Amino acid sequence: MQHIIVAKPRPGVMLITLNRPKSLNALSKDLLVEVATALREADADDAIRVVVLTGNEKAFSAGADIKEMPTGHMPMWAEKNRLTSWKTIEKFRKPMVAAVNGWALGGGMELTMLCDIVIAGDTAKFGAPEIKIAAFAGDGGTQRLPRVVGKARAMLMGLTGDPIDAKTAGAWGLAAEIVPAAQTLERALTIAARIAEHSPLTAQMVKAETLMAFEKPLDESLSLERKLLLWQSEDHVEGIKAFVEKRKPKFTGR
Ligand code: CAA
Repeated sequence: MQHIIVAKPRPGVMLITLNRPKSLNALSKDLLVEVATALREADADDAIRVVVLTGNEKAFSAGADIKEMPTGHMPMWAEKNRLTSWKTIEKFRKPMVAAVNGWALGGGMELTMLCDIVIAGDTAKFGAPEIKIAAFAGDGGTQRLPRVVGKARAMLMGLTGDPIDAKTAGAWGLAAEIVPAAQTLERALTIAARIAEHSPLTAQMVKAETLMAFEKPLDESLSLERKLLLWQSEDHVEGIKAFVEKRKPKFTGR
């Protein structure tokens, strides 16, 4: 990997650090392909239960790599490898936590919205500046941002292109918690490790079910939920048994 660093800092947790500091972690096609490759590995590895995504103190990511953008052709986000990689991130089944310091702009902010929990440092700035280069949020932001912050705030961000600070991002629901910047990654890893203690099957279902609230009509989501097999899993039986026996459950993912 050239543009990301992959580590396993806690049991059950994969940490992916975006590593193009000279471009403020701009999301080049190669970087996105590497993130998708790491996520495919995480998906296939039963020992990985949660992924944490982070950048550096100056930038989580300043968005799509503007220098890679073609002029006068297809929009860059429609390029095959880029699109496939983005779909892999969107469809990743295991919980993802973002640890955000500094800039999270354009595609960078869109990436945080694909994470299930966002922990932001007090230096973080979120924004949709695409309009400044006569583009729009091509990686799903036009649809996800209003679902997260509501129409009026999404319009304010998308039409002015101006960023919001961490406190505002927390108040608007883009981040679950705001912490001192020096503690952002540690806090995200602690949350990831906590999630990794639980039944992996259940954590994936909680993710899928929660996302359904944004993707399907309520009656359809509820009927799908009722059909779910979780209640028949070995982990569910083990969870009940462990509770009754007053011990820690041993979850296997089956
Ligand atoms: N793509 C490529 N390179 C980028 C970049 C980006 N998105 N953002 C920053 N860089 C590069 C800069 O060109 C600069 O490189 P050089 O040193 O070679 O000149 C380096 O990173 C450092 O950036 P700055 O000198 O500009 O740093 P700054 O602290 O003065 O400003 C900033 C920081 C406000 C984030 C500014 O860099 C900026 O506005 N960046 C562009 C942000 C942007 O418009 N993002 C949206 C892209 S479009 C998108 O994401 C949507 C999509 O789906 C297509």
